[in-house]
Amino acid sequence: LNVLSVASEAVPLIKTGGLADVAGALPGAVADHGAAMTTLLPGYPSVLKAMPRARPVHQWDSLLGTPARLLSGKIGTKGAEYPLLVLDAPELFTRDGSPYSDISGKDWSDNWRRFAALGRAAADLAGGAMVKRGKPQGFDLVHAHDWQAAMTCAYLRYAPYGEARIPSVVTIHNMAFQGWFGKEVFAQLGLPPKAWTMDGVEYHGGVGMLKAGLACADAVTTVSPTYAREIRSGTFGMGLEGLIIARGHAVSGILNGIDTDVWNPATDKALAATFTARTLERRMANKRALEAEFDLDEDDGPLFIVVSRLTWQKGMDVLPEVLDHLVGIGGRLALLGSADPHIEQQLFEGAARHPGRVGIRIGYDEDLSHRMQGGGDAILVPSRFEPCGLTQLYGLAYGCVPVVSRTGGLADTVIDANPAALAAGCATGIQHDGVTYDALAAALTRTVDLYRQPAVWQKIQKNAMKCDFSWKASGKAYADLYRSLMT
Ligand code: ADP
Ligand code: GLC
Repeated sequence: LNVLSVASEAVPLIKTGGLADVAGALPGAVADHGAAMTTLLPGYPSVLKAMPRARPVHQWDSLLGTPARLLSGKIGTKGAEYPLLVLDAPELFTRDGSPYSDISGKDWSDNWRRFAALGRAAADLAGGAMVKRGKPQGFDLVHAHDWQAAMTCAYLRYAPYGEARIPSVVTIHNMAFQGWFGKEVFAQLGLPPKAWTMDGVEYHGGVGMLKAGLACADAVTTVSPTYAREIRSGTFGMGLEGLIIARGHAVSGILNGIDTDVWNPATDKALAATFTARTLERRMANKRALEAEFDLDEDDGPLFIVVSRLTWQKGMDVLPEVLDHLVGIGGRLALLGSADPHIEQQLFEGAARHPGRVGIRIGYDEDLSHRMQGGGDAILVPSRFEPCGLTQLYGLAYGCVPVVSRTGGLADTVIDANPAALAAGCATGIQHDGVTYDALAAALTRTVDLYRQPAVWQKIQKNAMKCDFSWKASGKAYADLYRSLMT
């Protein structure tokens, strides 16, 4: 079963969020279950730089009006490398900034062309455009991630390639980003007029790229079962709930896994001291190192951490409000994040009020995020919505107890330390309902109370570390889904 996975980011080549972790891990996850996955990525400068000797294997004189070629390489780590195809279209992807926006943070105005071209290329490739030793190298199925890849499904439906009908899966990693553009772009997409319908790419009088994927894919998945249910309502479906309901059983939730080679406290080279559930006392060296790194007082009270985009989705606007409470009950906070200058400002004000108790680091630092999971006592993830969330899974694996809002993947992966779970000995974290000052403050108080009962706290840490959120089960679930679409 040859699958083409199409994404706008994948580790270790380019990452702005959890999508990259997932797209990077998926080939290995499904390989054990009989699916051979090739990944298609846009040729951003960082991606091209990582493959200086890549061979061109195909070219387009005009891909949505721009010349493009396809480079062949590998993605993964030594011993676990998988085929990679990179769409090298300099007019579209060779620019400074993030994959989606310029250095000032403004979305590229031609994002519709950049990502429609990615979809068009993916559909062409699935259809057999690439020829090796005189034979077309098509794919049996395409798996598209988020709106940036979703147009693949529309091209496969409306511009069929020969006799073969190639099935597609679209995965929603975040409903908040839908890729909507004005109707004037439709004429330039190279789709037939019949694609301009409610069942096709048209959405509120323009082109909806995620919508097109949801309408045209054979199966729709999202990254947790709870989020798959939540997006049937207006609050979480963000306008697309009707389509999600209409797609019925074609929509399912498959939980993200974590890469246990990268996220393993027993072998993690970023940590001052590695540890397992049996050697939890070794975490103390990491905690002391973290305190030093964030200029925090050394003490035995709980050290909370946050590793997050600083956005409304992540509840980061409420966090500054609860800092006084967090410190008042004996907690300290080490935060790593970036994005919203207004929230950054409020956090810095909070840190200034609490020297030695609150430390803020603005920026993106993968190694530091490992050190924080390895030395923090509890990680706060107060998201308003969270399709899956990965940082709470890393927290579980590192015995950094997750304190999360009860939504999406957070609801599916953390067992709240309520009296029943404590009595049964199966609690793995703390959940709160809603993202308000009161809900967060109460959750923090509950966490500190549990922390002050060492036997209870250690049991929660051990339970957390025992959870298996590796890709084993979810890799199989994706492979089973692919096979079900092949009949
Ligand atoms: P989202 O993709 O919505 O941001 P996820 O929890 O799925 O949320 O994934 C976020 C990923 O990005 C995780 O791997 C997390 O560790 C990482 N991350 C987020 N912010 C930072 C940061 N400032 N520095 C390092 N890693 C970060
Ligand atoms: C998105 C979601 C996050 C999810 C990630 C990977 O960024 O916000 O919840 O974990 O995609 O699927």
